[in-house]
Amino acid sequence: MDSRFKTHPWQVIETTLDPQDMRFSESLLSLGNGYMGLRGNLEEDYSGDSHRGTYLGGVWFPDKTRVGWWKIGYPEYFGKAINAMNLIGLHVKVNGQRLDAGKNQVLSFRRVLDMQKGTLSREMRVNIGGGEVTVRALRFVSMNQKNLLAIRYEVACDFPARLEIEAYLDGNVHNEDSNYEETFWDQLDGGADPEGGWILARTKQNPFGTPRFAVAGAFRVETDMSPAGTRRDAGFSAAGFVKDLKAGETAALEKIVAVTTDRDYPMASLTAQARELAQSLAVRGFEHLLEDHEAAWRKKWDLADVEILGNVSAQQGIRFNLFHLFSTYTGEDARLNIGPKGFTGEKYGGATYWDTEAYCFPVILATLGQAAALQLLRYRHQQLPGAYHNARQQGLPGALYPMVTFNGIECHNEWEITFEEIHRNGAIAHAIWYYTAYTGDESYLLNEGLEVLLGIARFWAGRVHENTKTGLYMIHGVTGPNEYENNVNNNWYTNRIAAWCLDFLLEALEGAGNGKAGELGVTDSERARMRDISARMYYPEDMGVFIQHDTFPDKELIPASLIPREERPINQHWSWDRILRSCFIKQGDVLQGLYFLGHLYDRETKRRNFDFYEPMTVHESSLSPCLHSIMASELGCREKAMELYLRTARLDLDNVNRDTADGLHVTSMAGAWLAIAQGFAGMRIADGLSLSPRLPETWEGYAFSFSYRGRIIRLDVNITGGSLRLLKGEPLVIKVNGKETMLEGSYQFLGGKP
Ligand code: BGC
Repeated sequence: MDSRFKTHPWQVIETTLDPQDMRFSESLLSLGNGYMGLRGNLEEDYSGDSHRGTYLGGVWFPDKTRVGWWKIGYPEYFGKAINAMNLIGLHVKVNGQRLDAGKNQVLSFRRVLDMQKGTLSREMRVNIGGGEVTVRALRFVSMNQKNLLAIRYEVACDFPARLEIEAYLDGNVHNEDSNYEETFWDQLDGGADPEGGWILARTKQNPFGTPRFAVAGAFRVETDMSPAGTRRDAGFSAAGFVKDLKAGETAALEKIVAVTTDRDYPMASLTAQARELAQSLAVRGFEHLLEDHEAAWRKKWDLADVEILGNVSAQQGIRFNLFHLFSTYTGEDARLNIGPKGFTGEKYGGATYWDTEAYCFPVILATLGQAAALQLLRYRHQQLPGAYHNARQQGLPGALYPMVTFNGIECHNEWEITFEEIHRNGAIAHAIWYYTAYTGDESYLLNEGLEVLLGIARFWAGRVHENTKTGLYMIHGVTGPNEYENNVNNNWYTNRIAAWCLDFLLEALEGAGNGKAGELGVTDSERARMRDISARMYYPEDMGVFIQHDTFPDKELIPASLIPREERPINQHWSWDRILRSCFIKQGDVLQGLYFLGHLYDRETKRRNFDFYEPMTVHESSLSPCLHSIMASELGCREKAMELYLRTARLDLDNVNRDTADGLHVTSMAGAWLAIAQGFAGMRIADGLSLSPRLPETWEGYAFSFSYRGRIIRLDVNITGGSLRLLKGEPLVIKVNGKETMLEGSYQFLGGKP
């Protein structure tokens, strides 16, 4: 980890201000509550390099696709989670001199992200206005009241000084990644009074017919300073305060901000709602609001914390990942999903990717519970019409779920890397399978789930072609999960997951009983064709392994260890041409299939494929290391499993891919939990719940709880073995290290073989 940051089990502690690396810190120190979030920006002015970012769940804009060589089927726009109003802003002056850590002499600087409490605090000493000034700030985005962000801000001077603070909201913001430097907001209204202010903004008209979003922000200030006038401008409202401080005296100001959007309230009452909320929350008072917020975080950690004994760096890693995952998604709103960067950055932003189903879903199910996971399934069901639209755009039947979306319609403009990744349909189906196997609840599968599966299966049935020479079905012109090869034929993973989707639908239709197929308009001949496609699907195999795609074996196959260190990551050093021709794999591809469908393959098959592909894998997608760590655990490769766990869990803390400044890798944060639960603890669910816990050599123990079929189960693993405890719910049968047992109360087990 960057030496400015300290390793700590519950905190991320920054000890100096590094102007070269402010963006990195801002990403790490982000806060969110599923409804909104912001980067770790300073409240007051900062003239150094920085990326101010505040984002609201589900508030996005369709930015024009910027290509001059339009082809039929291209997505029309590039959807973006857009930077919203600056909520935290304070202009601070001491004896007329502006507080700006980018210009002032900074004597000391310390920030603490407290992951247990969900707060960001700062203590900073600067030399301005004729002496030493100390700033103490504490803020949170409430986990208890989704509309609320609150700041307590204190300034102390060791000399007599006039302190002026102007608290403001500023809607004049833009996205760093917008095309043509466009802004996305119309400023509609605003107002200020001696104790606060409000603004109302709405996203601009767009030619694509996607909804516009209106957002109101309102704030109230509690302070021992005196009012000093207000300021109003388009998209800007401010209330000023002043105090003449004696030497050693402190002034304190609390800014309580409420945000509402027309996703929840009618446009006409939006500002009134925000203002009333800000008012009533201010009456409750900062201290109580903070208590409520901390209690809400406590409740989350009570169920979801993962404890690691004997390794603080691994401990910090898993908590950091869970903290940001829970800050991004709470499972309360079926219209929201989990963006790869959550509320922490713009690249990939808050759009929905296949990442959700492929990586986050099992974690949400186990840590936030069945109801939260069901919301993610509902999200895709609601977007089924969009998926049908996407397939139609390609001249194909059925439903093609988007690789990137806000509303079900594909909104990413990179054709080969994104659009051709039709494999994403498989992950959507897999989440339905996982949910059903994990919960035992078939009600989603047999209702909405069947509609989704049918759309997906019809897409695959339309996308394959029969090779008349071999009599086998093939899928050409795709990109697999490995984005370092495009437009390949017969990507093993895509072919396999397509056939599996067909089987899954056919089986589910059978399970649904007579009449369901007819109700859905599925004829016997359609079913027969799907069965035939699955039975005669072509799978490339060679050298004793499944082959990534038809021409992969013709490449120069060399291990990634031969790439000079200074050329890693290759995506920042090599031309795209060179990457595409190389054998190097960005993230698991064949192995993604063996992970998803692990219950259908034996250990030897997994080993052969792992040994073949892992050495060529450069793990340059944040989604890659966790999957390989899980497989390495299963195959008994303990060192590899730990190396890749740390790479997953500390990816952002250690800036492993050197891109954390752009935002955190929120979806792959789920992978750290997977690497522990499915990797080290061997959790499998295809055939009832089974665990085969192993203790990594460098740890003294680990423990976590999870929700399963109405129960809460806690697993503790130590040097000699461990225990399982039923914390809530009825006894149940589980398998531990291959042995079936009835779990009532608690069950002790001895350590299994590595
Ligand atoms: C990965 C994709 C992923 C995307 C967003 C890319 O780097 O290759 O699989 O969906 O990031 O996380």
